[in-house]
Amino acid sequence: MSQNLLKGKKGIIFGALNDQSIAWKTAEICYQQGAQIVLTNAPIALRMGEINKLAEACGNAPVIGADVTNMDDLKNLFEKSMEHFGGTIDFVLHSVGMSMNIRKGNMYTGLNHDFQHKTFDISAMSLHRVCQVAYELDAMSEWGSIVALTYIAAQRVFPDYNEMADAKALLESIARSFGYHYGVKKKVRINTISQSPTRTTAGSGVKGFDGFINYAEKMSPLGNASAEDCANYCAVMFSDMTRMVTMQNLFHDGGFSFTGVTQAVIEQMEK
Ligand SMILES: NC(=O)c1ccc[n+]([C@@H]2O[C@H](COP(=O)([O-])OP(=O)(O)OC[C@H]3O[C@@H](n4cnc5c(N)ncnc54)[C@H](O)[C@@H]3O)[C@@H](O)[C@H]2O)c1
Repeated sequence: MSQNLLKGKKGIIFGALNDQSIAWKTAEICYQQGAQIVLTNAPIALRMGEINKLAEACGNAPVIGADVTNMDDLKNLFEKSMEHFGGTIDFVLHSVGMSMNIRKGNMYTGLNHDFQHKTFDISAMSLHRVCQVAYELDAMSEWGSIVALTYIAAQRVFPDYNEMADAKALLESIARSFGYHYGVKKKVRINTISQSPTRTTAGSGVKGFDGFINYAEKMSPLGNASAEDCANYCAVMFSDMTRMVTMQNLFHDGGFSFTGVTQAVIEQMEK
């Protein structure tokens, strides 16, 4: 059901790979809530062609390729988006993550450091790049909202989440630091949403994901938050209903982050 929360708003959505992606659901919800959007992903991901279906379903949204590690790509993305919208951008979703160490099965204690560098560049520094490009081009509207997706491994150890844990800690810190500067300059807010484990291409790549997601389900009073739930939360964060929220890491996890133990886990342990 649409409440027209985002009527008249214009946003860029990074990271819709397929219909399981959190970014995919967010694009759909933002469009339903009245927003106009531009979709972007790495040129290699665009070659799969899936994103064109989403673009069509979102009012023929433009699709503009950009590798988040490339400043020229990002500059081109923001310039073309402003041209398309005929003005500044109200919201940005950063929904990007990648670790070659996870893909190759390297353990945290035996990382390939070139891969680690790439992980930090794609999964964390990219938020700084996006914010800096927007800042330098003065591309965001006053009270605009930038959201990046993160995971609780930034605060607590989840051994198989590997170096992505460190990348998420950096990502959350960049949201705070840039959030300060962008807030002062133009009242632009920057937050991270810390989402439950979710079955997506990136999520399922983590070793032991099935055990991981079932454990989180049992440890959350409300159960795991789905990708659709996360998309709804993103839409609220892009709306004017959350104007004074900035520099926060917002847990969106059914209560997992503040639960010590649940009856379901106790029963499992007693078996
Ligand atoms: N799935 C989960 O369990 C979970 C939980 C918490 C947070 N998150 C975070 O949510 C975000 C979205 O992930 P998802 O789960 O929807 O998976 P996904 O695989 O659908 O999305 C990841 C996206 O990152 C893009 N990407 C990778 N390298 C890129 C590059 N160089 N330039 C531009 N884009 C690039 C991919 O093409 C893909 O679209 C990530 O930040 C992820 O860490 C996921």
